[in-house]
Amino acid sequence: MANDRRPEDMVRITTTLLAEKFIEEQIEALREQIGNKKVLLALSGGVDSSVVAALLIRAVGEQLVCVHVNHGLLRKGEPEQVIEVFRNQMNANLIYVDATDRFLDKLAGVTDPEKKRKIIGGEFIEVFAEEARKLDGVEFLAQGTIWPDILESEKGIKAHHNAGGLPDDLKFELVEPVKILFKDEVRVVGKALGLPDNMVYRQPFPGPGLGVRCPGAITRDRLEAVRESDAILREEFVKNGLEGKVWQYFTVVPDFRSTGIKNGERSFEWSVVIRAVNTKDAMTATVENVPFELLQHICDRITHEVTGVNRVLFDLTPKPTATIEWE
Ligand code: XMP
Repeated sequence: MANDRRPEDMVRITTTLLAEKFIEEQIEALREQIGNKKVLLALSGGVDSSVVAALLIRAVGEQLVCVHVNHGLLRKGEPEQVIEVFRNQMNANLIYVDATDRFLDKLAGVTDPEKKRKIIGGEFIEVFAEEARKLDGVEFLAQGTIWPDILESEKGIKAHHNAGGLPDDLKFELVEPVKILFKDEVRVVGKALGLPDNMVYRQPFPGPGLGVRCPGAITRDRLEAVRESDAILREEFVKNGLEGKVWQYFTVVPDFRSTGIKNGERSFEWSVVIRAVNTKDAMTATVENVPFELLQHICDRITHEVTGVNRVLFDLTPKPTATIEWE
């Protein structure tokens, strides 16, 4: 593509007008690159892949094939929103794969965090490759690579997380329409493309998803406790004006039980840990000063609404010494 690198003098995209200009230019470039061929995209529902999908739908419509792999570790309501926004509202050609059982079966009994990450990453590529092989005439693979990804991989800080990974029989030409943009610009472009606010401004979410928030061996019941408690936390943060103010917030359910009382009887159940942190670059982080009354209200809701939980804790630890995620 013409714009392979971010021009030194490129104006930061901060307004709808600038975003629309970028969108027009990209649509033209995408049509030129893709012609009448098919493009494949792994659509997670995250900001970057969602913006790439929306751009490609505008540029080549049905020639785009989106694959949304549900690995069973997504937050409550996420797969449903991807289907609603892209298939129902934008008429995208969307293949939805519910691979929950495959992932959870492979993860059963695995306690080592890095092993869990490897299994999730490897299985993801396998599921995606299987779907790709079922399709005829795909020549392009679209990716939500952004400018910091390229800079960081050039500096050797991290491998370019989007690049490659697919088996040798699947060779595609890459389509990376937001690769010269910074994250804040991707959001402005996403907004201009009509994506919903909770998709455009959403907090970071790790690739291995809730899997790293269910420390130790993942079980379906504890994973459900993570998902339900996270949904309550997010709902309360939205209601109380903390969404968009706090950089990242979520719950963790460690693999231990403690004694409590429920309905006048002894219970022996899990604890939910609340984590809410602020950071600029995720290298260090401070803990958000969440109002105590709100924490008490969230504790009350979680202990009454989430099955298997009798205690709620708040993680007071900055990064360092802790990392943001628990695994
Ligand atoms: P840590 O836990 O290292 O997290 O302080 C820093 C930021 O990175 C996210 N994170 C991940 N993102 N795959 C991802 O895509 C991962 O394996 C992963 N681990 C951590 C974390 O959510 C935080 O925003």
